[in-house]
Amino acid sequence: MTLLVTGGAGFIGSNFVLDWFAQSDEPIVNLDALTYAGNLQNLAALQGHAAHTFVRGDIGDRPLLDRLLAEHQPRAVLHFAAESHVDRSIHGPGAFIKTNVEGTFTLLEATRAYWSALRGAAREDFRFHHVSTDEVYGSLAPSAPAFTETHPYEPNSPYSASKAASDHLVRAWHHTYGLPVVTTNCSNNYGPYHFPEKLIPLMIVNALAAKPLPIYGDGQQVRDWLYVTDHATAIRAVLAGGQLGETYNVGGWNEKTNKEIVLTICALLDELAPSAEGPYTRLITHVKDRPGHDRRYAIDAGKIERELGWRPAETFDSGIRKTVQWYLANKDWVANVQSGGYRDWVATNYSVR
Ligand code: NAD
Ligand code: DAU
Repeated sequence: MTLLVTGGAGFIGSNFVLDWFAQSDEPIVNLDALTYAGNLQNLAALQGHAAHTFVRGDIGDRPLLDRLLAEHQPRAVLHFAAESHVDRSIHGPGAFIKTNVEGTFTLLEATRAYWSALRGAAREDFRFHHVSTDEVYGSLAPSAPAFTETHPYEPNSPYSASKAASDHLVRAWHHTYGLPVVTTNCSNNYGPYHFPEKLIPLMIVNALAAKPLPIYGDGQQVRDWLYVTDHATAIRAVLAGGQLGETYNVGGWNEKTNKEIVLTICALLDELAPSAEGPYTRLITHVKDRPGHDRRYAIDAGKIERELGWRPAETFDSGIRKTVQWYLANKDWVANVQSGGYRDWVATNYSVR
């Protein structure tokens, strides 16, 4: 029994892999291209772990996929690999089409060829688990009900459009070819190993460096936040018991405005790492809004709770405190990811705001 995980050196993928080995000895083959977002340091705790095989490679490389599937005979493919940052998708959508659409297509085709040749229980029990996002549903009005699995797809950014396209491919490979798929659509994750281009880690690392805390527009956009290990437990629940061809929304029942998030981080840093210059809120700066910025996401995670008994274990208060503590305790990790490439991105995204 083996899992093939794609994107397992990224934020959510690495947390999933670490969490998996905290509960199981079942081997994982971890295929990751190590883009700017992939980081082997996230997996340092697994060095020498006999059940973890890391392979550097691209999900668009069909011969490599065929070789890995034939060699390791996985019982499931868990597909995390993607370009994941909305702002980067605005500056350069091509990479999102390449990985999220074409890469998913290639992975589906390789998996279909492998699965078609399986027989008996190996064929019946096989799963392709597609890890997706709530952003495919588009933006909600302030008082509209939260997204359910039947909400129409209305993606608004190049990132969410590319993820919506990948969701549709996965759905079609089930309906047309019978490939045994499940899809999860999750809200905003946060926690350890979160690359500091995203809101929460960016605000923590900027505050600690006494740099501006750039809030896009009025900061009243709403996101639902889920601690990353809760996402890992949801994926395990769906992998184990999800109905074939179904989609499951995953969320934290925890809507917050961006301004609230930043104020919470500032208050925690004032408590845990006070600055001689005064409260961290002094660094808050409102900057030009993100083009096409979705106003609100909210997830109704009722289906996964009813069918599979999953609910998040972490509250936002406990999760955000752990997260801030993790960044305070892992300044070397932060320094290492702030490479030349990271600095170039910060200049690209923020110098014109
Ligand atoms: P991330 O950007 O931190 O990591 C992506 C990983 O994929 C990296 O390790 C990268 O090296 C790898 N990768 C990129 N292109 C690749 C390719 N062509 N071949 C192989 N590997 C490649 O992303 P994340 O935040 O961990 O997100 C993981 C998945 O979860 C994505 O599919 C994303 O759409 C989805 N998701 C993310 C969130 C969130 O809040 N971050 C929420 C819901 C869903
Ligand atoms: O909803 C799930 C999605 O959440 C995932 O699919 C994406 O992969 C993930 O990146 C995330 O997308 P968001 O665009 O919501 O996350 P981000 O952290 O980039 O931004 C969160 C909010 O904070 C958003 O409203 C934009 C705002 N923001 C972000 C940055 C980086 C700021 O105000 N300032 C910033 O500097």
